[in-house]
Amino acid sequence: MTAGKSLLDIRGVETYYGNIRALNGVDVTVNEGEIVALIGANGAGKSTLMMTIFGTPRARRGTITFGGTDITDLPTHEIARLRIAQSPEGRRIFPRMTVMENLQMGASLDNLKFFDEDVEKVFALFPRLKERIAQRGGTLSGGEQQMLSIGRALMARPKLLLLDEPSLGLAPLIVKQIFDAIRELNRTQGLTVFLVEQNAFGALKLATRGYVMVNGVVTMSGTGKDLLADPEVRAAYLEGGRH
Ligand SMILES: Nc1ncnc2c1ncn2[C@@H]1O[C@H](COP(=O)(O)OP(=O)(O)OP(=O)(O)O)[C@@H](O)[C@H]1O
Ligand SMILES: [Mg+2]
Repeated sequence: MTAGKSLLDIRGVETYYGNIRALNGVDVTVNEGEIVALIGANGAGKSTLMMTIFGTPRARRGTITFGGTDITDLPTHEIARLRIAQSPEGRRIFPRMTVMENLQMGASLDNLKFFDEDVEKVFALFPRLKERIAQRGGTLSGGEQQMLSIGRALMARPKLLLLDEPSLGLAPLIVKQIFDAIRELNRTQGLTVFLVEQNAFGALKLATRGYVMVNGVVTMSGTGKDLLADPEVRAAYLEGGRH
């Protein structure tokens, strides 16, 4: 779909763990209606950027703007109230709670009147979750846990969905289902998605635009198509992969 105006603007962001600088002046823009992918090797700082958007850890320098509001120093719960939701690295579902209870945890108090409707939407996207509605999260397969993690994030009715490595450790068929679901959300609901992936091929195929991160800085950006065709990207991230 055609991209709209800028929704998320990250400018010159530096994030530290103690004295160690993990992000070294990052500039990223996500426009309304886009799927933007961030790719990079282990330890590049991808998850740190995702977490910095939510304010833990905080950016020590630079600014993060969401829908025109400066969120750089907002408390995390206030950032979430602006309708940014995430499926973090490792999924982080509640293992002792059922599928339904996990979805309840994702719903914000502001939206309870939409609860039934929103749960049905999640089940339409991931029918597997409906079949397992009363099963405890911790006993779900990896793929089902990923579906639940995304479903829980969607219950917050996000304007921006952040996904950290949704394909990690999953079989190709499940990865395809997850990526198809993300594409579907974007196409039918216009949901804006910012996606971190080590599966560079799948992510860039899905994405409107992409960024490459190396050692805490963005070294390349472009359309998903252009990055997929770029010799440097191919050599560093796609060799030995699917293409
Ligand atoms: N809690 C922490 N304390 C100290 N250093 C950290 C912490 N979390 C991450 N780091 C360091 O920050 C750097 C960036 O890590 P980050 O997790 O953001 O990378 P990543 O790109 O998400 O990697 P991966 O692909 O392995 O998930 C790494 O050098 C890492 O060791
Ligand atoms: Mg990570």
